[in-house]
Amino acid sequence: MGIRRLEDKCNECMLCVQDCIAGVWRDIAGLPTVVDPELCNHCSHCLAVCPQSAIEHDALDAEQAQRIGKKLLDPEVYREIVISRRSVRQYQDRPVPREIIEDIISLARHSPTASNLQNVQYIVVTDKELIQKISRRIFAISNRILKWIQNRWGKIIYRTFARGDFARSLSRYLKVMDYYKEKAKEGRDYILHNAPVLILLHAPARSNFSCDNCNIAATNITNYSHALGLGTCYIGFLTMSLRLDRTLRRWVDVPKGRRVFASLVLGYPAYSYTFTGSRKEPKVRWIEGSSPSAGK
Ligand SMILES: Cc1cc2nc3c(=O)[nH]c(=O)nc-3n(C[C@H](O)[C@H](O)[C@H](O)COP(=O)(O)O)c2cc1C
Repeated sequence: MGIRRLEDKCNECMLCVQDCIAGVWRDIAGLPTVVDPELCNHCSHCLAVCPQSAIEHDALDAEQAQRIGKKLLDPEVYREIVISRRSVRQYQDRPVPREIIEDIISLARHSPTASNLQNVQYIVVTDKELIQKISRRIFAISNRILKWIQNRWGKIIYRTFARGDFARSLSRYLKVMDYYKEKAKEGRDYILHNAPVLILLHAPARSNFSCDNCNIAATNITNYSHALGLGTCYIGFLTMSLRLDRTLRRWVDVPKGRRVFASLVLGYPAYSYTFTGSRKEPKVRWIEGSSPSAGK
């Protein structure tokens, strides 16, 4: 793999050396020098930081290095996007054009991944029948589990093992399930919310940061989709079910050795929110240099 400094363009500012976390670029006798290209993790920081475009990297696509529109980096806009995004659970019966989904996934590529592994991949389902089939299966299984929890043995096991958040959610679902079933008969989909698109983010099952990588990309998808006028909702039910249910994994064809770590539905919201939501105050413990307990 070749990484080259273009001498006629380089002004020896050393930004490539300062910014190279892999130790590929080093200051040798006052000149930025490639020491060992094999150490490179293809993060493209050197290409992006060089104001002179004085670097050639055989493994990276220079075309993608576009000038950053700094004037567009408006914190107010970003803040508004984040605080106004909600989980959308009612969608218009309207498909999302493929180019838009491609654009959203293309943006998500820019999310950070541990060691720049870029190991997140996507399964996009727009097949309405399959989306409904998945919903029905998860809804039916949830029903069976809730029924089972109410029989004699189920009650004993539930009381013994169900604790904390899990127990709280289960008891909430127990109380509301009859209502959900009534509504489901009328066509309400409580699992995938009758959304026209389902996006599954998967990564190697046994890689350390796969879950983080998928969920960071998923967050960018939710925020960008919202900015595009689309709605999304994380579907933890599906992520969990895919872990336990081989049939579901087969239906969506999760590649061997990989696991779905985030599931999202996407579509045009049936209505919009007028106000932002309410959140708990963040609990933050500051550890500052002057604190007597710092470093103890
Ligand atoms: C990891 C995760 C899993 C979730 N799973 C589901 C789900 O299965 N179904 C659903 O309707 N909402 C799901 N949600 C959405 C949350 O309920 C929602 O984010 C939360 O209530 C706050 O509401 P907001 O997203 O509208 O701000 C999930 C959210 C996260 C982060």
